[in-house]
Amino acid sequence: MEIEFVRADAAVSEKTAIAVAVFEGEPLAGAAAQLDQATGGSLARALAASRFTGAKGQTLDVAGPSGTPAARVLLAGAGKRDAWDDLAAEHVAASAYNAVKTTGLAVLRILFADPAAERAARAALGVRLAAYRFDRYRTKEPADKKPSVIKTEVVTSDVDGALAAFADLVALADAVAFARDLVSEPANIVYPVEFARRVKALEELGLEVTIMGEAEMAKLGMGSLLGVGQGSVRESQLLIMRWNGAADPNAQPIAFVGKGVCFDSGGISIKPSEGMEDMKWDMGGAAAVTGLMHVLAGRKAKVNAVGVLGLVENMPDGNAQRPGDVVTSMSGQTIEVINTDAEGRLVLADALWYCQDRFKPKFMVDLATLTGAIIISLGNDYAGLFSNNDELAANLLAASTTEGEGLWRMPLPAAYEKQIESVIADVKNTGGRPGGSITAALFLQKFVNGLPWAHLDIASTAWKKPSTVPTLPEGATGYGVRLLNRMVAEKYEG
Ligand code: BES
Ligand code: MN
Ligand code: ZN
Repeated sequence: MEIEFVRADAAVSEKTAIAVAVFEGEPLAGAAAQLDQATGGSLARALAASRFTGAKGQTLDVAGPSGTPAARVLLAGAGKRDAWDDLAAEHVAASAYNAVKTTGLAVLRILFADPAAERAARAALGVRLAAYRFDRYRTKEPADKKPSVIKTEVVTSDVDGALAAFADLVALADAVAFARDLVSEPANIVYPVEFARRVKALEELGLEVTIMGEAEMAKLGMGSLLGVGQGSVRESQLLIMRWNGAADPNAQPIAFVGKGVCFDSGGISIKPSEGMEDMKWDMGGAAAVTGLMHVLAGRKAKVNAVGVLGLVENMPDGNAQRPGDVVTSMSGQTIEVINTDAEGRLVLADALWYCQDRFKPKFMVDLATLTGAIIISLGNDYAGLFSNNDELAANLLAASTTEGEGLWRMPLPAAYEKQIESVIADVKNTGGRPGGSITAALFLQKFVNGLPWAHLDIASTAWKKPSTVPTLPEGATGYGVRLLNRMVAEKYEG
């Protein structure tokens, strides 16, 4: 998608759909009123002939109006004026794109009442995110399904300012797309070694990437992670990304850890076949951490950050780990594996321990598609947040609101640790159905040695079907990249 910022008087080509934002419950004003006049009242007549109210997400498409060179005018509901902000602008722009993308027209022009630089840049971001497609495996596509819009012009009073504001957002959109691609890829293509290879290629952005195989992990004592990958012919990998952008290259880093289960069959505790194909996106946490490191490097963030990924494939096999097996984690704690399908926490146990032991970070945030229970608790618009630190939790929640990536704090009650007590080992890997996301988080906490830590259970948000947010096409969302990038930018840079 080509993006251009233009002034209001820039010439309109005949291949253009002009989208004008209209506030809910308000008459056509400003640019919309002018367009209405130019078209001899066509817009007002279209409004009178429809139930369009200007509510957020609504669109009204007026095709072929006379009096304007544009081929279509799209009225785009902007919602209530007092709720109009950068995020609303992004969503309205994305809705406009979605409404016209397959009309056959090549250009979308977006016209807001207040086209200041930052707002225009956010509108452009909205279109970039909405226009994301994963079409690597389509060899033919019906002509009427293929998006026709190849260029978006965002009207602004400050073209240079919008371009400047958009530079960091391009880095963000690229990073989100990279994360979405990783999640969308099937598990026969992106398995641990291939995931690592793709991340290694990001060294061209200035990231430092280190990859460990099973032999090195065994030397470090990572029996918990290695047990999960043991039934797979694909070699497990531990991947470390470093971005050193702080003025002091030795300043204490912040750290992010991702669950990268490239396919989760459940292992010997095998999952039912219905829906098992979704488990190719069980590496959504690792993809989000990769996306974060991608955008930090892309916009040269003034921070030292580390990303650690545990990459495995969980398969049933003659060599697979059995229910009842006991493994010894790098922390020294022993774990009784009650259910081989509770594998994400086993991977993270060693990845978290390694991360804090090796890098002594200020804090660690892990992201994981960890439990089906979080979907039952929160539905598909919120990820679960678990943290031992109120300040870190508050920073994550604030960033979530600004970026529109829903997040809801959940409790970590010590009393529930009873549920994961083992009869023969230090801990067991499942705590039964009650509070399944909570006992999973309590398990992780046993591998965090006192430092500020937060766990985001993103099983609910890593994938959208169907799409309910205009900037998220059906499929991989890249959830977490925006939220973490915002938190780093606002709280941990400089
Ligand atoms: N990867 C799954 C969690 C998941 C479920 C993610 C649905 C996305 C959608 C995880 O490894 C898992 O299997 N969790 C089990 C834990 C149980 C065995 C204690 C679950 O949630 O059922
Ligand atoms: Mn599982
Ligand atoms: Zn899993």
